[in-house]
Amino acid sequence: LGLRPRSLLLHLRVEPGLEKEIRLSDNWSLPAVEEYFRSYATESREVPSLPSAEAIRSSSNPATAARDWLVQLAPDFLIESSPMARYASGNYGKLSSSLFKIIIDELGYGDFERKHSTLFENTMRSAGLNSVPHRYWQYYLNGSLMLANYYNRITRNRKHVFRYIGAIYLAETGFLTSCRIWRDVLKEALPGLDTRYFDEHCHIDIDHSRMALDGLVRPAIETYGNFAANEIVRGFEEARWIGEFAEQDFVRQICWKDSAERNQDHYQQIFLKVRRAWEAGEITKDCLDEPKGELSITHTHDGDELCHVASGEMEFLNGFECSTTLRGNQGIIIEHNRLHGALIHSERCKYEIYNIGDLDRWL
Ligand SMILES: [Fe+2]
Ligand SMILES: [Fe+2]
Ligand SMILES: [Fe+2]
Repeated sequence: LGLRPRSLLLHLRVEPGLEKEIRLSDNWSLPAVEEYFRSYATESREVPSLPSAEAIRSSSNPATAARDWLVQLAPDFLIESSPMARYASGNYGKLSSSLFKIIIDELGYGDFERKHSTLFENTMRSAGLNSVPHRYWQYYLNGSLMLANYYNRITRNRKHVFRYIGAIYLAETGFLTSCRIWRDVLKEALPGLDTRYFDEHCHIDIDHSRMALDGLVRPAIETYGNFAANEIVRGFEEARWIGEFAEQDFVRQICWKDSAERNQDHYQQIFLKVRRAWEAGEITKDCLDEPKGELSITHTHDGDELCHVASGEMEFLNGFECSTTLRGNQGIIIEHNRLHGALIHSERCKYEIYNIGDLDRWL
């Protein structure tokens, strides 16, 4: 239930945002799309690493960062091909049959052990994680939710079928390289990891990328012309933009979790200044008094905040598998856009949240 509002909100926000971010020329033709997609395929194969992989590698706790990344992939991978399967019904002519060939691979050709979501369940379990879909919903970052929602949106509303074709070409093509990079870094961080999910995609997506180009992109443009070409490129660009956003969101979250001590130091440095500013009426604060067991479910804020615990004990959650204990006269800076939460451990806990806007202006 807790997932619904945040996920719906992102769903509504994403469309106008993307229209603003991605401006397309409207004269795409089949040869132009083919050339553009081929050059993407070539370039993407040569990508040496990904921001997510570097974040795991350089984290002060690579094993936790690796598990966190598996959690971010889970909203898609544990239900793999579910958005895609929405286009299995209806009649899209030859496109339907081409897409169905990809769907049956994703579903393991009727063999549960080979189903891609089953492979990822094994990956999750081998990392010591629960494999029930959405078990870790409270740890999904906004970027991960946006990405999953994007594929749901363009398959729920069928007017976006051509965008879906562009997005799925991107996914099947980029995945070849991403899966190799992720497999290597995850294995480094979690030596016991079952990587068969990633191994499988390193080879099957060679076929899926070709099938998406030959069986979906080309026939769609041949049959439906310029409109289809423009929409396909738009879907490709939108999915790419959100994918990169999700990578960066994860990078920032790992960095924020690794900075827990520095964020406490910053609190120490600026607290008196912040309190004086509040006394002078320059900024606002919220005062809270909560009982044992009270949970502030994970969320994010648009501006930086300062959390000051007046009395009692709080487990401040910096993110997945990372928390900081705060007692009387201790506190922490909460960076804007970073997922966090809190759980009260003492009979009562009094704390104050100061809306400081931008941390830099206080340092
Ligand atoms: Fe797959
Ligand atoms: Fe695939
Ligand atoms: Fe908060």
